[in-house]
Amino acid sequence: MNDRTRKQFPATEALISTAPKNVMELELPSFAKINLRLLVTGLRRDGYHTLDTIFQALELHDTLTFRFRRSSEFQVTLDVGKSKIPTDSGNLISQACSAFHEVYPLKHSIHVTVRKRIPSESGLGGGSSNAGCTLIALSKLYDWPIPRVGLLRIARRLGADVPFFLYGGTAHGTRRGDLIRQVPDWPPKQVLLVHPKIRCSTPEIYRKFDEMDLLTRRRDFNKILSDQKPESRREFVSLIENDLEKVVVSLYPEIGSIKKRLLTLGATATAVTGSGSVVFGLFEDQLELAAAAKQIPGSIRTRFVDRKEYRKRIGF
Ligand code: C5P
Repeated sequence: MNDRTRKQFPATEALISTAPKNVMELELPSFAKINLRLLVTGLRRDGYHTLDTIFQALELHDTLTFRFRRSSEFQVTLDVGKSKIPTDSGNLISQACSAFHEVYPLKHSIHVTVRKRIPSESGLGGGSSNAGCTLIALSKLYDWPIPRVGLLRIARRLGADVPFFLYGGTAHGTRRGDLIRQVPDWPPKQVLLVHPKIRCSTPEIYRKFDEMDLLTRRRDFNKILSDQKPESRREFVSLIENDLEKVVVSLYPEIGSIKKRLLTLGATATAVTGSGSVVFGLFEDQLELAAAAKQIPGSIRTRFVDRKEYRKRIGF
C-alpha cells in the first residue's frame, strides 16, 4: 500500500475498463481466511476478549465487481445473486463505502455485484473480506487518498477481522484480532474445509467460553505470542490450536467427529476457524487432499495464499 508496491503491482486479475462510457469497472477477488491459531488471552472492560491469533488467507474467494459511475449523489447498490446475504446497509460492503465516504467524499455512485463462494457465518471471514476488498477498490479508484493508518482505522471500526484483509498472507493479530503485524508466510498447505449445517453465534460462543471458565490467564505469554514461522512440520502442527474449539465441540459434538474424520483421512492438523462452525484440515499434497475431499461430500478444497500472491491478485 505504499507508492512503491502500488507501482510494482498494477492491477492484474483486477480488470479496469471504461465501458460502457462513463463507467469504471473493477473486478477483485475477496479471499477467505482461517485462524491457524486462536488463543483467548483476556477479557476487556467492553466485554470483548483479547486474542492472540495467526490469520491465513485462502485461495477460496468471492468475486466483487465494482461499477463506478460519476455522480454528485452518494449511492451504493448491491446485486448478490441467489446468496442470502443482506443487500441493504447491513451489508459490510455498503458500510465500507459509507465509512470511506465519511473520510473522503466519493464522487461516484457504486454498484457492486457479489459472486459469493465463501459460506456466510462460518468463521471464514467472508463479510470482513468483502469490506476489506471494498476499501482497497475505493482506494485504487481514487489513487489511495486515505493514508494507510486512516484506512486501518476505518477497517477496525467495520469489524475486528477486517484489518487483516488489508494485508493477506499469514499475519499475527492481537487486541481483538484487529491489530495486525505481518509475519513471514507460513509454509504452503492444501486445505479442506468442512462446513457442518450448524450456525455458531459468535456472542454465544464467547459467553459460553466465560461460563466454562476457560480463560487461561496462567499461560506463558512469551510462548503464546506466536509471531515466528514454524521451523518444522512438527512445530507447525503443534501450533494449530483454537481456544474456542472446546466450546464449539461441547455445544456441537458433530464438529469433534469431523475433526477425527479429517485426521483419519490424512490431515496433518485440523481446527475450527474463528468461532466456527467450519473445520479445516491441512494436507501436504493435492493427491491426499483430493482423496479426502471425495470422502466428504460438500467439502471445499482450497490452499494457502501467501502475501505476494494476495497482493498481486488484488493489485496493490
Ligand atoms: O466481532 P463481532 O461483532 O461479530 O462479535 C460479536 C460478539 O462476540 C461481541 O459482541 C462479543 O460479545 C463477542 N466477541 C468477543 N471478543 C472478540 C470478538 C467477539 O467477546 N474478540
